[in-house]
Amino acid sequence: MISCFIFDLDGVIVNTSVHHFRAWQQIAKRLGIEFSENDNQKLKGISREDSLNTLLEIGNQKVSDIEFKKLLDLKNSIYLDLINGLDKTAILPSVTEKLNFLKSSSYKIALASSSKNAKTVLNRIGLNDYFDAVIDGNRITKPKPDPEIFLTAAKLTESNAENCAVFEDAFAGISAAKEAGMLAIGIGNKEDLYNADYVFEDFGQISNQFLKSL
Ligand code: BG6
Ligand code: MG
Repeated sequence: MISCFIFDLDGVIVNTSVHHFRAWQQIAKRLGIEFSENDNQKLKGISREDSLNTLLEIGNQKVSDIEFKKLLDLKNSIYLDLINGLDKTAILPSVTEKLNFLKSSSYKIALASSSKNAKTVLNRIGLNDYFDAVIDGNRITKPKPDPEIFLTAAKLTESNAENCAVFEDAFAGISAAKEAGMLAIGIGNKEDLYNADYVFEDFGQISNQFLKSL
C-alpha cells in the first residue's frame, strides 16, 4: 500500500524542462555541436555534470577540466536568466489539485530533484509548504539513475521503499525509482517511459480513486 508520493520537479511539477533545453542549446552552439530536441531526451533527469558529458559525447568532443567547469557555470547562468520571471503560472496542469488531494488524505509527500536549483524553483512557484521532505541535487552524491535520491526521500519521510510511489518524466528517473524498489509512475508518453509501471500524459489524467487504490 502506498503511503508516500515522491515528485520529481522539472517536467513533472513545473514546465522548466524547456528552459534547461534552451540553455543546453546555447552551450551546444558555442561548442559547434548539433543538438536536437530528440538528443535532449537523454539529458532529462540527469545531473548538470552528466548532461555536459552527454552533450560532449554527442559532439564527439573533449574539453579541459577548467573549460568543463566554465561551461557548467555558463549553462547555469543562462538557465537562471531564463527562469528569472518564473511564477505559479508555470505549474503544470492539475499538479496543485493533486497535491491538495494527497495532503488532505494524509499521504507523505516528498520532492526529489536532480536540480541544484530545485529550492529556488519551488520557492518561486510557491509550492514549498506541501512537502514533508525536499531532496535536491546538492544533497546527493550519486545522481539519477542511481536510486540514492529516492531512498533518501523514503528515509526522510520515514517510509519503506515499497510503500513509495514516484512521479517522473525522465527515463533515468523511472530507472532510479525501480532500482529503489518503488512504484514508478511516468508523466509523459509510453514510448519514452516504457520502463514505468504506469504512464499518464499529465496529472489531469490521474484520478484520486486510482491513487487511493495503489
Ligand atoms: C533535472 C533536469 O531535474 O535537473 C535536468 O531534468 C537538469 O534537465 C538537472 O540538467 C540538473 O539541474 P541543475 O538546475 O542543477 O542544472
Ligand atoms: Mg524531470
